[in-house]
Amino acid sequence: MGQARILLIVGGGIAAYKSLELIRLLARRGLAARVILTQAGAQFVTPLSLSSLSGDRVYQDLFSLTDEAEMGHIELSRQADLVVVCPATADLMAKAAHGLASDLASTTLLATDKRVLMVPAMNVRMWEHPATRRNVARLEADGVRVMPPDTGPMACGEFGPGRLPEPERILAEIEGMLTGPARSPPPCGPLAGLRAVITAGPTREPLDPVRYMSNHSSGRQGYAIAGSLAQRGAEVVLVSGPTALAIPDGVTAVRVETASEMYDAVSASLPADIFIGVAAVADWRPARRAASKLKLKGAKGPLSLSLVENPDILRSVGTRERQRPRLVIGFAAETNALDRHARAKLRRKGADWIIANDVSGDVMGGTDNEVSVYSASGSERWPRMNKSALADRLAGRIAVHFGRPGAAE
Ligand SMILES: Cc1cc2nc3c(=O)[nH]c(=O)nc-3n(C[C@H](O)[C@H](O)[C@H](O)COP(=O)(O)O)c2cc1C
Repeated sequence: MGQARILLIVGGGIAAYKSLELIRLLARRGLAARVILTQAGAQFVTPLSLSSLSGDRVYQDLFSLTDEAEMGHIELSRQADLVVVCPATADLMAKAAHGLASDLASTTLLATDKRVLMVPAMNVRMWEHPATRRNVARLEADGVRVMPPDTGPMACGEFGPGRLPEPERILAEIEGMLTGPARSPPPCGPLAGLRAVITAGPTREPLDPVRYMSNHSSGRQGYAIAGSLAQRGAEVVLVSGPTALAIPDGVTAVRVETASEMYDAVSASLPADIFIGVAAVADWRPARRAASKLKLKGAKGPLSLSLVENPDILRSVGTRERQRPRLVIGFAAETNALDRHARAKLRRKGADWIIANDVSGDVMGGTDNEVSVYSASGSERWPRMNKSALADRLAGRIAVHFGRPGAAE
C-alpha cells in the first residue's frame, strides 16, 4: 500500500495504550499516523510515547497559536486519507453525534470531509446505555464506520461487549477502508436526491444475558428493497436487526438488536423522503431483563413471563407532525384475515401504503413473497415472485410515485 496518511485521534479510555501498538502496526505497513491526543487521553498515554512511535509531534490543543499557524484543525484533516478514533470514548462519540466542537478532537471530526472509523472501547453499561446506542446509530447514519467492540472480561471487572478489538483487526479494517472506493460517485438514477430509511430483519428481546425472544424473519425482503433503491440512486439507510446477510452495495447500515434500539436508530436517521418498515419488530418485550442467567433450579411451578409493549415504529413515523417522510410504507405479516388487517393497519399507522403478505406458509425466512399492496385508493394483488423481483417492482412504483423520469418497473 502507498503512503496513505492516517489521522489518529486517541481518546481518554483505559484502552488508549493499545493505540501505541496500532501506530507500530500501521508503520510496518507503510502507513503514516499523525496523532491528536485528547486531554483525557493524555491521562492514559503520554504524548512522548505516541510521538516516539509516530515519528511526529502530537497535537493536543485547539487554541495553540503555533499549531493553528502551522497545522490547524482544518489542515490536520485535509492532509489525512482516513480519520481513525481509537479508542473512541463514549464522550467523543456523543460529541461527534451531536456535532459538538469543543476541543481539538471534536472540532477536527466536525471539520473533516474524510472517511471516519471509530473504534469504541468502554464499560459494558456505558456501551449498552440508550444514549450511546442512539449516538452510534446517529454516527452510522451519518456515514461513520463504527467497529463493534469485542465481548469479554473488562478492565473494570465486568463482562460483556465494550473491549477494544485487537490492533491487528483494527489495522485490517483501516486497510479495507483505504482500499475501498475513496468516495462514492455522485448518485444517478430515478431516485437520486431522495433519502430512504428502511428497517429489516427480526428484533431480539432479551430475557437474560443468554436468552431472547425473536421471530423467523431473515431480513431478505428489506435488504433486497434497500439494494434496489440504492441501485436507482437513492441514499439508503438500512436499520437492521440481526441477520446473516451482506449489506447491499451503496447502503449505509445501522445494526441493532432490540425494537427499542431500532426505534432510536430510525428516529436518529430521519428526516427522510421515504420510510419503509419491513422489519418484523417484536410487539412485546420481557418486562424485566434478568441481570444474570435465569435458573431452573428452585423454580416453583410453571414460570410466567410478563411482557410489555414495544414502541410502534411504523406508527411513530407515519403520524409524525413534523418532518414526516413523504412516503411511508409498512409491511403487514398476517396469518389470517389479511384484507381486514391490512386496511386497519393503513389507517391506524398513518401509512401511505401497506404491503400485506400471508406468512402462514413459507414466506417468512423464504426466498419468495406474494403480496397485496393497499393504499387509500384501493388494493392490488401482485403475483408470487422472488424477493428481489418484488423489491425491483416496489422501487419502480416508488419512482413513479415521485414522478421521476426513467422510472420503469
Ligand atoms: C480510569 C478511567 C478509565 C476510563 N475508561 C474509559 C473508557 O474505557 N471508555 C470511555 O468511553 N470512557 C472512559 N473513561 C471516561 C473518560 O475518560 C471521560 O469520559 C473523558 O471525558 C473522555 O474524554 P475524551 O473523550 O475527550 O477523551 C474513563 C475514566 C477513568 C477515570
